[in-house]
Amino acid sequence: MVSADPLLDRLRDLVGTRHVLTERDVCASYETDWTQRYHSSARAVVRPADPAQVRSVLACCSEHGAPVVPQGGNTGLVGGSVPRNHEVLLSLRRLQHLELDPIAGEAVVGAGVTLGAVQDRARVAGWDVGVDIGARDTATIGGMVATNAGGLHLLRYGPMADQVLGCDAALVDGTRIGHVPALRKDNTGYRWERILTGSEGTLAVLTTIHLRLVPYLSARVVALAALETIEDAVRCCSVLRRRLPSLVALEACLADGIDLVCAHTALPQPFAEGAPVVLLAECAGQPGEEDRLVAALGNALGETPEVRDTVVASAAGARARLWRYREAHTEAVNALGIPHKLDVTLPASELARFARDVHATVAAHGPTARLVMWGHLGDGNLHVNVIGPEPDDTRVDDAVLDLVIARGGSISAEHGIGVAKRAALARARPATDLAAMRAVKQALDPSWLLNPGALLNQA
Ligand code: FAD
Ligand code: MLT
Ligand code: ZN
Repeated sequence: MVSADPLLDRLRDLVGTRHVLTERDVCASYETDWTQRYHSSARAVVRPADPAQVRSVLACCSEHGAPVVPQGGNTGLVGGSVPRNHEVLLSLRRLQHLELDPIAGEAVVGAGVTLGAVQDRARVAGWDVGVDIGARDTATIGGMVATNAGGLHLLRYGPMADQVLGCDAALVDGTRIGHVPALRKDNTGYRWERILTGSEGTLAVLTTIHLRLVPYLSARVVALAALETIEDAVRCCSVLRRRLPSLVALEACLADGIDLVCAHTALPQPFAEGAPVVLLAECAGQPGEEDRLVAALGNALGETPEVRDTVVASAAGARARLWRYREAHTEAVNALGIPHKLDVTLPASELARFARDVHATVAAHGPTARLVMWGHLGDGNLHVNVIGPEPDDTRVDDAVLDLVIARGGSISAEHGIGVAKRAALARARPATDLAAMRAVKQALDPSWLLNPGALLNQA
């Protein structure tokens, strides 16, 4: 067979013809991001089976000078996981190795294993993953490390950076770096897992990750609290964090987001009287501790004068129903149209003022710009979503991010920079920082072939 593309012939030899996809309909789901804001066609979608094949594919693409976009579950929300300019799309989903050490409380995981799969295996052995996110059944451990995902339990266990003991990765020319299994204590120079966590596929491709696990706390209690203002919710978070050592999550929703979720899911309103702010708090402990957790959470909320009303659940189904008010925000917003997703952190002292002022910032972009906001309030992280402006109109993104910068916040709390925030990064970080980041990129990927256009631009 005569091929129009010699690179693809070489790649077929390396991973098998079935795993070099070029048919448009088969490639479509790899080429469009979760929000549908970012899409473009790939030169091919290549699906290596193991770390050795990943290294060979990268070496081959390097020899041909072909840019590569790594992809895990494609749940990223900043446009960094899909092609932009006919790159080779390197899908890591076939890297499915999963090995659990129940004595050490650690797991060695292929980059393509989903978070949900690790959670299921770990929980049977009494362990759990410290990070949890709504996209658990699709997001991969490789993608979560590459974005340093934060999620719902960050206030207790930290982001992905705190869960990673070591990694095995491939540089753009196919060189192997790092090693697994890793040791908990090992100060033998630069730690690749630290350098690569949050690098968004721009420095190397993660192939295997060594995770530390946390104890599985199967007794859980969830409460929704009705509050009047974000100031009240911030004060309530502070009280709960001080009084409840068992606290694992503190999330906030606003009345219009709750209305949207109720319309989208057919859930009833959580409170008889509508609440401007709904705070979700979750506590966790060992089996048999449910009653103690209910009492502790109930007492802490009861002693918080700002709380107007509460709903508390400890049974699994009832807890899941309360979480649904919070977790269904992402899909409910997507159903309205293509969202501009701005994931930001503010200092605690600025959260309430920002949450008020951002309404005017968004409204300035026309009467059709609709704002829906929620977030991981316990971490100062708000998800500002705007629906209305055209997907490629970035004026509202710029205005919101500039407000964040002016208030001392971060333009990316947990989703990363990707394509969506690359231009704003130059306003958020000093030029000297960016120059140093480019020097690291240049050293590891001299031809800028790995995920070009994501996170940093070359100039
Ligand atoms: P992808 O989307 O495939 O890729 C993301 C980035 O990582 C890209 O730049 C890609 O090039 C790079 N990458 C992927 N795999 C590798 C690899 N093996 N080696 C090198 N680079 C790689 N995020 C949060 O932080 N907290 C949340 O609470 C949260 N909730 C979410 C809820 C929903 C419903 C959805 C849709 C998304 C949510 N996200 C959240 C965002 C997303 O799930 C995370 O960013 C996740 O870490 C992405 O994982 P992924 O496997 O889908 O990566
Ligand atoms: C969330 O916390 O809901 C996620 O980060 C996803 C989103 O921002 O839509
Ligand atoms: Zn989030």
